[in-house]
Amino acid sequence: MTILVTGATGNVGRHVVDQLVRSGARVRALTRNPATANLPQSVEVVYGELTDPQSLVPALEGVTAMHLITFNGADSAPLQTGAEIIALAEKAGVRKVTLLWSGERGPVEAAAEESGLEWTHLQPPVEFMSNAREWAESIRSEGVIRGLNREVLSAMIHEADIGSVAATVLMEDGHAFKSYTLTGPEVLSVSDKLRHISAEIGRELEFIELTEAEERAKMRQAGIQEDVIDYVVGWHANPPKESYQVWPTVEQITGRPARTFAQWVAENREKFI
Ligand SMILES: NC(=O)c1ccc[n+]([C@@H]2O[C@H](COP(=O)([O-])OP(=O)(O)OC[C@H]3O[C@@H](n4cnc5c(N)ncnc54)[C@H](OP(=O)(O)O)[C@@H]3O)[C@@H](O)[C@H]2O)c1
Repeated sequence: MTILVTGATGNVGRHVVDQLVRSGARVRALTRNPATANLPQSVEVVYGELTDPQSLVPALEGVTAMHLITFNGADSAPLQTGAEIIALAEKAGVRKVTLLWSGERGPVEAAAEESGLEWTHLQPPVEFMSNAREWAESIRSEGVIRGLNREVLSAMIHEADIGSVAATVLMEDGHAFKSYTLTGPEVLSVSDKLRHISAEIGRELEFIELTEAEERAKMRQAGIQEDVIDYVVGWHANPPKESYQVWPTVEQITGRPARTFAQWVAENREKFI
């Protein structure tokens, strides 16, 4: 049985691949750039572009289960090719699919639910711990981070936990037609996160609060689109309740407690020094 992982070179996808390899699965990884994929040796790396479903035909050959991202990296919008992708997967003999939520229910989710496939939604309504990498440069160079609100709360999730849940669902029975809300094990403010990084690298760190106008200017300079800027500013002013609510799902499915931010920081220590 071959398992196809899309988004395999991404923050989450690399963990899906690693966990599946560790479980002894035969893994095929999809990427638009096989030459730079840098995945484990035992993984078969194949080309595929999710906005061009016909390009997936060779990748789907012999596949019985797949992990599917639901967004297009080019514009960070929901993939519009869901119906074609799901139809090709069914035709190829795929029986099971995990769908990684990108913040809204899009055409991929709709097509999977209407298909004959056993689908499972993986829904993290919280930020990924890997977002903290955005702070690495200013921590290394100045010992500071700049942002809108140091008290904004988050039940952030370790990407490896999404990988573990995806691998478990793909390898085990009993998860069909379920939607899993995935979060980390604790609620942390930005100040708490900074304390964890500070303790790990042994250096005092400072939070510099920006005005909304300064934060908008910073994001514009980084090339972020206006609608995304509005979303981020709105989130910090009034975060949705589900972004700071802890769910026990990771432990229920994997049998292991969800990884903490302290663990993530220890694993990523060298990025901050
Ligand atoms: N960051 C957060 O806080 C957060 C929170 C909740 C949900 N999410 C959602 O989680 C999802 C995964 O995030 P991530 O951080 O793992 O993503 P990521 O690191 O940006 O990785 C994106 C992956 O998707 C692949 N990809 C993108 N567009 C593609 C296309 N058109 N065809 C084929 N492959 C494509 C890329 O592969 P190649 O470049 O190798 O082709 C890459 O492996 C996103 O939808 C994101 O919105 C993120």
